[in-house]
This record gives sequence, structure tokens and C-alpha cells, in this order.
Amino acid sequence: MKKHIAILKGDGIGPEIVDQALLVLNKVAEKFGHEFTYIEVAIGGCSIDKYGVPITEEGMNACKQADSVLLGAVGGPKWDGVDPSIRPEKALLAVRKELGLFANLRPTKLFSQLADASPLKQSIVGNGIDLMIVRELTGGIYFGKRRTESVDGEKVATDEMTYSEHEIERIGRVAFESARKRDKRLASVDKANVLDSSRLWRAVMHRLAEEYPDVEYSDILVDNTAMQLIKNPSQFDVIVTENMFGDILSDEASMLTGSIGMMPSASLSSTTLGMYESIHGSAPDIAGMDLANPIGTIMSAAMMLRYSFDMAEEADAIECAVNAVLDDGYRTADIWKEGMKKVGCKEMGAAVAARL
Ligand code: IPM
Ligand code: MG
Repeated sequence: MKKHIAILKGDGIGPEIVDQALLVLNKVAEKFGHEFTYIEVAIGGCSIDKYGVPITEEGMNACKQADSVLLGAVGGPKWDGVDPSIRPEKALLAVRKELGLFANLRPTKLFSQLADASPLKQSIVGNGIDLMIVRELTGGIYFGKRRTESVDGEKVATDEMTYSEHEIERIGRVAFESARKRDKRLASVDKANVLDSSRLWRAVMHRLAEEYPDVEYSDILVDNTAMQLIKNPSQFDVIVTENMFGDILSDEASMLTGSIGMMPSASLSSTTLGMYESIHGSAPDIAGMDLANPIGTIMSAAMMLRYSFDMAEEADAIECAVNAVLDDGYRTADIWKEGMKKVGCKEMGAAVAARL
């Protein structure tokens, strides 16, 4: 197959982790007889420096015309002072919106080789962690109306959280379908004891639950979810939630697995066009030092093959290679412990590619 991929390396550790994912993708292409072509698009701070905007219109069009998009990370303290309308993160939100990427899948899986890398006790994570967070990605407070104004001599800032029934229903369907393919349990996270948007969310989810009687459905409040994820994470199979709650809970959940550097994600639309990125940030403190963990991005590339290109065998091959590398004791600094082989970003990428 021929596939054209837009590559958005971004800022901080973005370029180094994406380079390792490309090494792995090229190995897959060679091994399975595919042809992957790439177009690099500047995004985030590096684009602000070069073009004055976090993504150009041309760059955005290149993403729309590609078969899928692979992203590193955006942002960093260097651009904290720029006008909010051109912040690096704006470009990421704009790509999600313009490509219609409303469904963000964030699988949280503890590799058995890393069981003791989790900061939680063995009595809590010992039975394994395998949950899927389905985060709504193009609605809610990150895309609501916002303003900062002067009222009675002081500044007042407002961010609105809005959800419409169709937005809730389409993410709900993704979550129910995803539960069907897993352990058939779905927890819908909201704050229905306070927020109108959550009450609508819950009503729509209940309507859908009737269509999926084979899925065991439950409602759970977001504050309680934050606690339960630490107290008893294995109670969860699939979690579905709105944009901001999903952003926060997925960072929390990632620590169950030992390192946020391990966590991939897929942002899907109603077509096969998707964007794939690890859930972590640009980690400017270690950028360019060959210290970053590329596994989250490599596993995101595997999700791209699975979800956008329907290449299940190739995706499995990447996941097997990552497992083999961990079996062989390779660890980047974030997951390293005594007795293991400490490697940098490049060596980790090369080790995965070599096992394909
Ligand atoms: C994420 C990130 C982004 C988000 C930021 C960089 C805008 O935290 O993908 O989780 O909030 O969605
Ligand atoms: Mg986040």
C-alpha cells in the first residue's frame, strides 16, 4: 500500500521522538512491502519562530490532504509570553478541530516488564492495568467562547463549556463500540451534580446505553474517578469523558503505567484520517539530550497503522518489537532501574526497529 503521512515534529523532544517512530515506520514499510511518503509541517513554537504563526494555512492543508498525521509535541517556556491567539497549543487545537478529530483514544496499559515502575503499590497495580480512555476532543471548554474584560475596576476572565447532543452522541458511540471490542464495561465520567453540560452528557449516554445492552454501563463523577483511578484502577475497562476531564484524567492514568512517556494516543475523525501522538508534552528540560522515551510515539505509529491504514499485522509487529525490547532490559531514564540497560532515545528506537 502507498500512504502519505504528514509529519509534525513540533518543539522540545518532539523531533527526536518522531525520528525514532519514522525509523520504525520505514522498517515496517520495508518488511511488509508498503510505501510511506512524508511531508514535514512546522507546528508550534518552531513555526511561530519561522512564520509568526503556530501553523501556516499551507501546513494545515498538507495535514488535510495526507492519509494520516504523526505528531511529536508542541510548546515550551520560550513561547509562554506570545499573544494567546498564536500560542503553540492553538495550532494543535486547530488541527484537531479542522480535521474533525473528535475521538481521542488513550490506551493505558501497564507492560508486565514495568510492573515495578509504577509509583503505586503492587497490591494496586499487581493484577495489571489495561484501560482505555475515550476523550472527546473537539468540544467543551477548550473550544468554547472566551473573553477577558474589565468589570468594576478588575479583570474578569470567562471560558464557556458547551456541548450539544450530537457531539455527545458521536463520542458515546465510539466508546460503546470500543467497550464491545474489549471487556464490555463502560464508565461515563461527568460532573452531573453541578454542571448542565454534564447533565446533558449523562442523558445522552443513558439513551445510548439502551442500544448497547451487552455493555455494562455506569456513571461516575469526575472527582470520584480521580480517586478511584489510584485506589482501584482495575475496576475500569473503558472510560468516556469530555475534553478537559479527559485531558486531566489521562495524565493521571498514565502514571499507573510508570511513565507518561509510554502512552500513545489516536485522534480519530469520521473518516480514516487520524492524528497520532504520545500524550506527553514537549519536555523542554531534556530536549536535544537524547534522554526522551520514544515508546509513546512509536506505539502511536502502531495505532496509526491499525486505525487509519487497517494494517493490524504491521501494528502487532511494532507492539511485539516494543515488548521484546523491554524483555531484553532496554530502559530509557524515565523507566530505568538498577540492573537494566540504560539507553537513550536513539538507541531505544534502533532497538525496536532491529526487532521488527
Ligand atoms: C494533550 C495536551 C494538549 C491538550 C495541550 C498541549 C493543548 O495536554 O494532548 O493532552 O490539552 O489536549
Ligand atoms: Mg494533556
